[in-house]
Amino acid sequence: MIERAAVILAAGQGTRMRSPTPKVLHKVGGRTLLDRAIDTAEALGCARIVVVAGAHAPTVASHARARLGEDAVVIQDPPLGTGHAVRAAEPALAGFAGDILVAYADTPLLDADAVAPLFDARARGADLAVLGFHAGDPGAYGRLILGDGETLDKIVEAKDASAAELAVAACNSGVLAAPAGLLFELLSEVRNDNAKGEYYLTDVVGLARSRDLRVSAVFVDEVRVLGVNAQGELAAAEAAFQAAWRARALAHGVTMAAPDTVMFAFDTQLEPGVTVEPYVVFAPGVKVRAGAVIRAFSHLEGADVEAGAIVGPYARLRPGAKVGQGAHVGNFVEIKQATLEAGVKVNHLSYIGDGSIGARTNVGAGAIFCNYDGFDKFQTHIGADAFIGSNTALVAPVRVGAGAMTGSGSVITRDVPDDALALGRGVQVEKPNWAARFRARKREGRVLK
Ligand code: UD1
Ligand code: CA
Repeated sequence: MIERAAVILAAGQGTRMRSPTPKVLHKVGGRTLLDRAIDTAEALGCARIVVVAGAHAPTVASHARARLGEDAVVIQDPPLGTGHAVRAAEPALAGFAGDILVAYADTPLLDADAVAPLFDARARGADLAVLGFHAGDPGAYGRLILGDGETLDKIVEAKDASAAELAVAACNSGVLAAPAGLLFELLSEVRNDNAKGEYYLTDVVGLARSRDLRVSAVFVDEVRVLGVNAQGELAAAEAAFQAAWRARALAHGVTMAAPDTVMFAFDTQLEPGVTVEPYVVFAPGVKVRAGAVIRAFSHLEGADVEAGAIVGPYARLRPGAKVGQGAHVGNFVEIKQATLEAGVKVNHLSYIGDGSIGARTNVGAGAIFCNYDGFDKFQTHIGADAFIGSNTALVAPVRVGAGAMTGSGSVITRDVPDDALALGRGVQVEKPNWAARFRARKREGRVLK
């Protein structure tokens, strides 16, 4: 296979998002648009990936550097068009002699399957391959002017197009593949004498044709190349992502009575035989095994749920939550960085943060792991077969032994040995007839007034 590299364009202003967050750092499926573009390039086997970022958005450059390394980012300043942007990547790809894939960082639904046909076209002998689509509303897209068969003669930007050209529905996605040497040679010939006064990447097509090179257009579904320019398009991309994910989960054997109300992340892992009730949100990093039930209105992030466990309704699993086999996590229970072994029950109104609970232990309503002193976090560990009374406050660091019990309302500040009962609460006092006397006094008082 010819070696592959990718140039990902992310230097545009993105002003139509009207957001202080740069456009490509917005997310679809819990993953930034930029990372999704990089994921696609990696899935296609691109050994080298260069991100072209703008000087106006240093966080885009730092985000890309954090993932790909210092040399993987070039700054295009000022941005003078898509062709100018790809040229900015040339020094970073010095010595690279394989194929270059050019893609935009703002097309979050473009996956490896959608791009692969470009490389197939290259394998069939095309010198340059361009990814096109048939637009429902061609609007401002560049138009693909086709010759015989899959031959592409040129791309005309909407602002430069004639009425006849504007009537063409075949549009440019912006994604193309070409050998590095040829691409940069053609780009050096691109001029900016056009309606926008920019260096258009799209001009390489006409330049290649004037050299009698073979240029192919291959087509994908419009939804794959949906570009994000404004918040409405970001929401539309999210909707398309979710629709695809739901269909995949159902086909995989996940039971969902109301799939349209369930939100997935790019990396959600659900085994066949998982049930997901309505209105559940999977943020990134969740794995759920067969037979587990995620009940309505639960929010999960960075959590592992083992087989047969029940989570929710109204549960919140935060990063590092591990719910063991057959364990139950009920309503208004929050779990963070904590492991529940098999069969544990935490059914109502609890916070379990930083620690562990041994197998089969029952945690009563309102139990709290007091894990934070305002400066540091501390651990709470409870052994197997223990019983934590309702409204117990466990002040970390603290351990409760296997088989131990704590009395309701206790504040547990010292370790509890195995099989002991720990009580840490005020002692109850009864005053016989006190309430009746109190009421009588009050009534007399009212009469006297
Ligand atoms: C571009 C294409 C058009 C295609 C459309 C698909 C050109 C000349 N036109 O138009 O044929 O139908 O995309 O969406 O290529 N960028 C830079 N530096 C620049 C300019 C742009 O990095 O100087 C990046 C942007 O961040 C964006 C991408 O390139 O990711 C596309 O730029 P944009 O200005 O949106 O191009 P369009 O005018 O939409
Ligand atoms: Ca655009």
